[in-house]
Formats: sequence, C-alpha cells, structure tokens
Amino acid sequence: MIIPILTDDPGWHGEQLKQAFTLRGVETVFVSLVDCSLQMTEQLKVHIPGFTKPPPGVFVRGVTGGTLQQVITRLNILHVLQDSGVVVYNHGRAIERTVDKAMTSVLLHRHKVATPHTWVCESRAQAQQVRRLSNEVMVLKPLFGSQGLGVRQLMPEAPLPVPMEMYVDGVYYLQQFIETSDVPHDFRLFVIGNKVVAAMKRIGDSWVNNVAAGGQCVAIEPEPAMIQLALNAAAAVNIEYCGVDIIQAKTGEYYVLEVNSIPAWKGLQTATQINIAQLLVDDFLSKLS
Ligand SMILES: Nc1ncnc2c1ncn2[C@@H]1O[C@H](COP(=O)(O)OP(=O)(O)O)[C@@H](O)[C@H]1O
Ligand SMILES: [Mg+2]
Repeated sequence: MIIPILTDDPGWHGEQLKQAFTLRGVETVFVSLVDCSLQMTEQLKVHIPGFTKPPPGVFVRGVTGGTLQQVITRLNILHVLQDSGVVVYNHGRAIERTVDKAMTSVLLHRHKVATPHTWVCESRAQAQQVRRLSNEVMVLKPLFGSQGLGVRQLMPEAPLPVPMEMYVDGVYYLQQFIETSDVPHDFRLFVIGNKVVAAMKRIGDSWVNNVAAGGQCVAIEPEPAMIQLALNAAAAVNIEYCGVDIIQAKTGEYYVLEVNSIPAWKGLQTATQINIAQLLVDDFLSKLS
C-alpha cells in the first residue's frame, strides 16, 4: 500500500508523517493537489500522479492557495476522491468549512460553542456602522488567513481599511477583541478523534500569539472546561482532527477563536512527549479497511 501525502511543501511535517507511516510499514509519496486532475469520460476518475488505481486513503497536509477557481478545483478533487470511497483525512468538507473563518464562526455559533461576537460584511459603510455601535476595540481578520498574517486590531477611532486592501480582500471579518489577563496569550488544543491529545499556551511578542509570529510554546494540562470547548468546536465543524485556538478573557470565560483543519504541530511537539504525527497516522490508518 502506498499512501499519498497531499502537499506541495512537505517540510518538517511531511517528514514526520512519512516516518510515522514507515513505522507502521506503510510507504508514502508526496503529491501536490495541483498535479491531480479530474476526468469525466466513461467513468469519473481522479488522476493522482504515480497511481493507476485509487489509493485506499490520502492524507491531506496542504491545500495550496490560489485563485478561487484553483482552490475550488483542489477541493473538488478531495470531494470526488471521498465520494469514490477513498478515505480523505481531513475530509474536503471539513477543510472547506474551516479554511473560511466566517463559516467556522457560523457553525460555532449555531452549535452554541462560545466564540467572540463576529460580523461579516462586504460593505465598508456597514462595517463602519458595526464599529460605531460597538465602540470597542475590534479585530479585523482575513477570511482565509492563517499563522496570524494580516490579523489586526482596530481602535474605535482608527480608520477602517478600504475593501481592496491586502488581507481584507473585499470582505470585512470583524470580531470583538478579547483581552486576556496577564501578558497576551492564547491556547492551542490538538484534537484527534474525540480526544484532546496535546495542549499548549502560546505567548506572543504582541497580542497575536501564533507560533509562526514568534509565539512561545508552554505545555499545559488543560482544564476540563477548555477540553470540552475544544471537543465541541471540533464537533461543530464535524472534523476528524484539528487544532483549536482558544482564548480566555480577563473575566475567566473561554472562547474559541478558530478551528484549523491543516494545523501545524511543530511548536506543539516541543511542548509534549507524545508523538503527534504517530497519533495522526494511527488514527488515519484505523479508518482504512
Ligand atoms: N478576537 C480576538 N481577541 C483577541 N485576540 C485575538 C482574537 N482573534 C485572534 N486573536 C489573536 O490572533 C491570533 C490569530 O488569530 P486566528 O483567528 O487564530 O487566525 P489565524 O488563522 O491567523 O491563526 C490568535 O491566536 C490570537 O492570539
Ligand atoms: Mg490561529
């Protein structure tokens, strides 16, 4: 059996996964979704380079960004693979829902998972109106952002970026700013199956605490309330594994900031004894049969 690890940038995570598969006697190959294609002739087929018949499963480690058309095509490939019986991990629908912060917020809200108040609109005038009514510090995030890139704070009197500005891209995703006690920090909980397998506190240079933005990782033993919140968030977006970002307000309440369907775990791995790649691979392999 050869399992494609879908990514065009294998890096440290790709190597970790490859080693974990090797330990279980499974060969892997790195394949970019960009090089896969759909064929609708006598039969509906997904062509994966190097494969003459579909593999039992694919491990999705990256969906390359691009134009809306390209991203839809890459997700379509995941959907068609899954419809034809291939185990797609994480499945395309879960990736689709979580890559879009607005849809994540909708699902969290719908499933009554605590998350900061959030507004999504295209109109600059409407976004201004939201800010006037709230008159509090807000956070503006790119809808498809990651690693803290483009996440910014908006003071009540500060000018609102124009729709075409980078990281706005025509849609305002505005969120209530949650102030933490102590130095700014948040938490990352890693969920596999229905379990939180590792957790850390992230302490950033600024209030943006992503590891990629310089956040320091400190292992924590999460409280039951935080664990339950992470599991509820994973259930709300219906995902097999994920990284859940949680923040605790000064007043004590926990809120889910986002759910990551293709989470990095290099920082988290430094804060835990368990081998995260092995847990992922074992969970993935348990689904093949
Ligand atoms: N509403 C908020 N209040 C306070 N801090 C926030 C808020 N939203 C995001 N942050 C900070 O910014 C970081 C990045 O935001 P996040 O929503 O996780 O987007 P990204 O996809 O870029 O990681 C968070 O880890 C947190 O430190
Ligand atoms: Mg995040």
